[in-house]
Amino acid sequence: MQTFHIETVGCQMNVLDSELVMATLLQEGFQYVDSPKKADILLFNTCSIRQHAEDKIYSALGRLKHARESHPGKIIGVMGCMAQKDAGQIFRRAPHVELVVGPGQIARIPELIRKIQAGEGPQLELSLERKGKSRREVESSFDFFDPHRERAARANPYQAFVRVMFGCDQFCTYCIVPRVRGPEQSRAEGEILAEIDQLVEQGCREVTLIGQTVSKYREPTTRMPLSGLLAKVHDRTSPGGLERIRFVTSHPNSMTRDLLDAVRDLPRVMPFFHIPAQSGSNAVLKRMNRGYTVEKYREVLAAIRETVPEASITSDFIVGFCGETEADFEDTMRLVEESRFKNSFIFKFSPREGTKAWELFEDDIPEEVKRRRNNELLALQNRISEEDSAGFLGRKVEILVEGASKKEESLPIYGESTKLQLTGHTPCDRIVVFDGSPEMLGTIQTVTIEKTSPFTLFGKVA
Ligand code: SAH
Ligand code: SF4
Ligand code: F3S
Repeated sequence: MQTFHIETVGCQMNVLDSELVMATLLQEGFQYVDSPKKADILLFNTCSIRQHAEDKIYSALGRLKHARESHPGKIIGVMGCMAQKDAGQIFRRAPHVELVVGPGQIARIPELIRKIQAGEGPQLELSLERKGKSRREVESSFDFFDPHRERAARANPYQAFVRVMFGCDQFCTYCIVPRVRGPEQSRAEGEILAEIDQLVEQGCREVTLIGQTVSKYREPTTRMPLSGLLAKVHDRTSPGGLERIRFVTSHPNSMTRDLLDAVRDLPRVMPFFHIPAQSGSNAVLKRMNRGYTVEKYREVLAAIRETVPEASITSDFIVGFCGETEADFEDTMRLVEESRFKNSFIFKFSPREGTKAWELFEDDIPEEVKRRRNNELLALQNRISEEDSAGFLGRKVEILVEGASKKEESLPIYGESTKLQLTGHTPCDRIVVFDGSPEMLGTIQTVTIEKTSPFTLFGKVA
């Protein structure tokens, strides 16, 4: 039997794509192995968002230069965003790669593997790029594919991502995603609900609806917004069945009243919003083409806090974007200081060829300034996260028990009564670690918090 392994980096889109490819390969009779070394077919699901993400893949590929000498017939493949962006360069820099597949063509991976095995040589399958092509041409070159879901392909049987939108049309000037993932397209309600029913049948307790700008969801025929979709998914929930619904990533410009009301009124939609701000300076936001001002962003936060007071909010920031002055950076610090994000993902700007920023602006902030701003912003956010976490001391929280905490995963379990260190998330998406037993997996438990750290709460089952 042929074995395969997939190494995944990047965002939720890639995590889901890897799951779908794994499910298809399992259905086609391939066998999954944990070890990249032992696998007959080794796939890298790649990300192009920052240079660093690409560099890591090239060095991993470099280390495999002689892999086929000790493992004849081993196939090395590259899928995901970097495949779409740099196919030619990948074949040039890593001639031992035989398969390059863009994110819009992953359904064809089993067929392409068979072609390589039949001696047809290296296989390349990409979507059309946008430049000079009509939207329709580009769109139809993606074969969107979310096939039957397979429980065995998920790291955790209780949680799953469900794609509700493909692509992105925002064209933030720093961002490569619209180029590699194609035009924004929402999936039909019927398809989404059928997929969720299937996941529930497989024991799934939590679904996260994903899209690069998920708050902009519009049903293709009825134009129903995300609030309507949330209500329909909510109808699928029941105690002991589907218990939790989340959605990411939201865009500040589409946080409409109906969406906030839906989160307030639908008890099994979790009070959690990921709404990247990217910067606290209007000049920078403008150069980023984010389409909002910091005043507008503050209004969005205020509306959420008023409508769903228990909600937690998380954000992304880019520091050292082209032309970012010390004063711009201070504005970002101020926004973080007052916004009380549960956490923020902070990135140093990384220029990407093919984006507007690459064409229009100079990457003029020195690396050490980027690093300092990154550290300062991170230290501020960590202090806030720590303070917020401390507020949970003594409180009771509801946890969906997801699995054994990393530390104990490798320890043997002796008998049924053995205590396990378990992990799960609160409704507002905080990680909780506590002692429990294996039969708690996949259930909702009430835990009393006894100790806190910036990003983890520790407690005891109440
Ligand atoms: N669609 C989401 C996020 C997509 S990428 C959104 O609009 O918010 C995830 C994060 O990577 C972005 O929010 C941004 O903060 C960061 N990012 C994107 N391009 C980047 C670049 N060129 N350099 C550094 N960070 C980048
Ligand atoms: Fe990139 Fe902006 Fe689209 Fe997010 S909204 S994926 S940052 S272009
Ligand atoms: Fe990376 Fe592609 Fe996601 S570039 S962040 S894997 S959409």
